Amino acid sequence: MANNKTLRLDKLVSQVTDLSRAEVKRAARQGRISVNGEVISDPAQKVLESDTVTLDGDALHEPGPRYFMLNKPLGYVCATKDGEHPTVLDLIDEPNKQKLHIAGRLDIDTTGLVLITDDGQWSHRITSPRHHCEKTYYALLAEGIDDSAIEKFAKGIWLNNEKKRTKPAKLEILYRNEVRITISEGRYHQVKRMFAALDNRVLELHRERVGDIVLDEDLPEGEYRALTSEEIAGMGAQES
Ligand code: URA
Repeated sequence: MANNKTLRLDKLVSQVTDLSRAEVKRAARQGRISVNGEVISDPAQKVLESDTVTLDGDALHEPGPRYFMLNKPLGYVCATKDGEHPTVLDLIDEPNKQKLHIAGRLDIDTTGLVLITDDGQWSHRITSPRHHCEKTYYALLAEGIDDSAIEKFAKGIWLNNEKKRTKPAKLEILYRNEVRITISEGRYHQVKRMFAALDNRVLELHRERVGDIVLDEDLPEGEYRALTSEEIAGMGAQES
């Protein structure tokens, strides 16, 4: 454990594991919890964070920061709770899930790369406008698009009801109505509104990349995996 604050045994164990306070109390009464080698059955016992606490013989450690990539399917919202639709966090099966948050949201009808973490400083580097983190999307458009759009996107686009042009965006035309677009901001519905400003419409939008992190081709829709230490460090985080 990290430092020498004292706290109740049941509080400490439930913070570090996925057990509720009631489950921890039961485990203590069953003699499954030890502190510095001694079985402690009183869940209210004060312990130091530096004490060695074990549950069923396994030492408990403060979990380090966690980082995941998820391949978001259609129909899921990027929120922690939603009364109507399933959320991307419903797809995550991890202890202490309530501590996780989404680093950069996608619309309900956008698919692809979503980053999920409990490291607020790391996610700030992705979402803060000051950091200009690049995001690349594949888009299927309702209408064909010609090369003149490349320059318009490079100059920045005036979006409806906004006082500033968008920052320069890179547009690659893959086929007449299929493009790859890279933006470095995160304005509301930005990609859809950029194409709407050119009298076009996005039919499908899929995020392929955020900063240096590319959606893993082997990750099926609806699945997630832990980021590698290179992927985490690529966004400027300390390795855990
Ligand atoms: N731009 C959009 O319009 N929608 C998204 O989900 C992401 C970027």
